[in-house]
Amino acid sequence: MTKQETYQTLIPQIESLVAGETDAIANMANVAAALHEAFGFWWTGFYRVSNERIGELILGPFQGPIACTRIPFGRGVCGTAWQRAETVIVPNVHEFAGHIACSSASNSEIVVPILHDGRVVAVLDIDSTDFNTFDETDRHYLEQIARMLG
Ligand code: SME
Repeated sequence: MTKQETYQTLIPQIESLVAGETDAIANMANVAAALHEAFGFWWTGFYRVSNERIGELILGPFQGPIACTRIPFGRGVCGTAWQRAETVIVPNVHEFAGHIACSSASNSEIVVPILHDGRVVAVLDIDSTDFNTFDETDRHYLEQIARMLG
């Protein structure tokens, strides 16, 4: 299956999972599991904008190795995607200024913001051990998934 075919199979499954549930954390947990299993990524998960500490992302549901728990606004790929309120694709994380290395095995990354009423409420972060893993196809489908969660 091509990457596009995998996403096209996955999207309706995620749509029906999410449609029947209103709890954001439960939905993030299932989306992380669905993406992680379908693609075999290194790390797949969410950081949520903290309601308790202004200017921080806090680790949410994920699949993969343990990760950093808090990320400041504007820091790393996740904090940058939050600040810009747009998807950030990083072909080589070692060349991204300020990248936060939760794991030295990660070589490329995509972070997609989740917006609710025009504000970023969380980010979807996916890490790969290969370089250049993520492209416009990933952006297209992952932004579609992000809209289901917003
Ligand atoms: N690399 C991310 C941090 C999160 S972990 O990789 C799971 C970043 O720079 O935002």
